[in-house]
Amino acid sequence: MVRKDFGDDFKWGVSSAAFQTEGACDADGKGRSIWDTFTARKGKIKNGHNAREACGFYRHYQEDIALIREMSIPNFRFSLSWSRIFPEGIGYCNTKGLDFYERLIDHCLEQGITPWVTLYHWDLPQALQDRGGWTNRDILDWLEEYSGCVARHLGDRVKHWMVLNEPTVFTGAGYFFGLHAPGLTGIRNFFPAAHHAALAMGRVGRLLRSEVPDAQIGSTFSCSSIHPASERPRDIAAAKRADALINRMFIEPALGMGYPTTDLKALGGIERCMMAGDDALLPFDFDFVGIQCYTREVVEYSFFVPYLQARLVPARKRKVPLVTAMGWEVYPDAIYEMIRKFSAYPNIPDLYITENGAAFPDDLVDGRVDDQLRLRYLQTHLEQVLRAKQEGLDVHGYFVWTLTDNFEWAEGYDARFGLVHVDFETQRRVIKASGRWYGDFLASHG
Ligand code: NOJ
Repeated sequence: MVRKDFGDDFKWGVSSAAFQTEGACDADGKGRSIWDTFTARKGKIKNGHNAREACGFYRHYQEDIALIREMSIPNFRFSLSWSRIFPEGIGYCNTKGLDFYERLIDHCLEQGITPWVTLYHWDLPQALQDRGGWTNRDILDWLEEYSGCVARHLGDRVKHWMVLNEPTVFTGAGYFFGLHAPGLTGIRNFFPAAHHAALAMGRVGRLLRSEVPDAQIGSTFSCSSIHPASERPRDIAAAKRADALINRMFIEPALGMGYPTTDLKALGGIERCMMAGDDALLPFDFDFVGIQCYTREVVEYSFFVPYLQARLVPARKRKVPLVTAMGWEVYPDAIYEMIRKFSAYPNIPDLYITENGAAFPDDLVDGRVDDQLRLRYLQTHLEQVLRAKQEGLDVHGYFVWTLTDNFEWAEGYDARFGLVHVDFETQRRVIKASGRWYGDFLASHG
């Protein structure tokens, strides 16, 4: 497998997100986000970690862009911190916050690296959460104000935009399970949050198209290949419900197909959050769809799980050959299966893999990290992307998650996903063997 096999137009990149990397949590007038609040709550994050410093990307961004260049990576996906730009979420715009992104983007462009910007990667301004956050329909206006402002300031240089990152995860973990910020639970929070997130994609998609007409506009979706635990009809039916929730809930309304309520009856309740005319507001003709796939899930029927009546069988209980530090099975076919699944939608726009990668414990020995498991993970997943491409499926790019080890949400700093090792005491960076491999792969033109 060489780079050339993927074609000259294939986009290669690396992804990151503001809260996980920037640190500088109150520098230059930044406001508080729900993740600043959540990480300060006892018992929410493994080992009590927080992201006040993280990787210090706010100060080290030039060094990190130099590393991207060193690895010959042409595209860099990162997110903007809403509360850095609007400390209160709406109203007053903090020019110092905006200036940071201006500098970052200019520096990327000077270094020949194309910026791909995610507007919302989970760090909602706390002031807006105080008014209900995603459960309040006004979020659509709030998000529009922020997005319009950044599009007008940055749209002359940024031509690749993503509206939301993984709505299933931030609404599910944040507003149903309470495992992520803002830590709310239950269907009463989840349904409105989810419906407003679904509407937000269309609303902001349309706004971006009018503000930056020559931009490529997308949004990113988490997905996992779903396999029933057995051939028993009730496991097969359980897998179908889990698939509707995990893989279909947000992409289908965006494609104009509505929520997958036929296959997941419990989702019917979301329709109570809908207002007249919402059906027409959900779809948007995105230029691209980002899919983010890390593993597969094996699903069995369970009487005890409310709404879903299905349970994910943990990889560690399935005796799979290899699991990552997140407890996820290493199953490269999953990415192929997801490209196949998403490609099968009749009106699907261009597909990109906007995240894929793995956390493993790393050892820094004599200034080197020989992370063969991660390297192998990336290779085998890329082979599956190539397989999809060679079968004629439309996939236009691949972005590794992630550039540097960073703050992995509720897992804190233990789960290291980076191509670059970070010593969080000294902020020293070292390109790992996986990063060297990716760099050599990208630099060799086959
Ligand atoms: C999905 C999220 O977008 C990202 O923030 C997270 O760190 C990775 N996947 C790994 O879990």
